[in-house]
Amino acid sequence: MRLTVFNGSPRGKNSNTQLLLEHFLRGFMTIGGNTYELAYLNHVRDMDKFVNMFREAEHVLLAFPLYTDCMPAIVKAFIESLEPLCGREDNPEIGFMMQGGFPEAIHSRYVEKYLEKFASRLGCRYVGTIIKGGCEGIQTRPAKKTRKLFESFYQLGQIYGETGLFDKELVHKLAQPERLPTPLAIIFKLLVKTRIFTSYWDNLLRENDAYEKRFDKPYRMK
Ligand SMILES: Cc1cc2nc3c(=O)[nH]c(=O)nc-3n(C[C@H](O)[C@H](O)[C@H](O)COP(=O)(O)O)c2cc1C
Repeated sequence: MRLTVFNGSPRGKNSNTQLLLEHFLRGFMTIGGNTYELAYLNHVRDMDKFVNMFREAEHVLLAFPLYTDCMPAIVKAFIESLEPLCGREDNPEIGFMMQGGFPEAIHSRYVEKYLEKFASRLGCRYVGTIIKGGCEGIQTRPAKKTRKLFESFYQLGQIYGETGLFDKELVHKLAQPERLPTPLAIIFKLLVKTRIFTSYWDNLLRENDAYEKRFDKPYRMK
C-alpha cells in the first residue's frame, strides 16, 4: 500500500500528532511492500505541492490536533484548497486521525461528522476517524504511562497496513472515555479554572510571545 500522510499540527515535527503518527507508521511499515510519504501542513508555502500530493495519492491519512473544538487553520486551508478535486474519479481513500487535550472523545464527534461529509463531497472512500483525547503532555510522560497508547497506535497502523481498514475495536477503545462520569467532570471543570491548569498553557503562551494577546478578538465587529 502507498500511503500519503499529512501532519496538520502547527507544531509540525515536534507535535503530539507526529509522535502518534510515528507509532502508527512503524506498525504500517511491518507489512511488506508498504511505503509512505509524510508532509507537514505547517509549511504553508507548500500548499500547491500538498494538493499535488493528494491528487496523486492512493491512500491518504490526515492527522491533526483538535483546536477550539475544530481543526487548526492550516488544516482548514488545506481542506479548502482541495475544492478543485471535488468529485474527481481518481480521488484517494481517506482516513483521519484526530487527537486533543481534553480527555473526552465527545469533543471530537462534530468534527468527525464534518470529516465524513468532507470525504463524501470529495468523492473519496471514507476509511474512518481515529479519535484520542488526553494527549497534551504525551511527550513528557514516563514511558510506562504511554506504553499502551503507543502500542495501540502501532497495532492500528499494522492492521491498516494489512487491510486498509481502521480496526473498529481499537478505535473504540482509544476513544474512551466518551464522556467523563459526572463527579469527575465536575472536578475537571473546577480544575480548569485553577492556576494549576492554566499555568501550563500560560507558560506556552509566554514562550511564544502571545501571553498579552490571549484575549484578543481580531474578528470582533466594531
Ligand atoms: C489553540 C489551541 C486550541 C486547542 N483547543 C482544544 C480543544 O478545543 N479541545 C481539546 O481537546 N484540545 C484542544 N487543544 C489541545 C490540543 O489539541 C492538544 O494539546 C494536542 O495534543 C496538540 O497536538 P499537537 O502537538 O499535535 O499540535 C488546543 C490547543 C491549542 C494550542
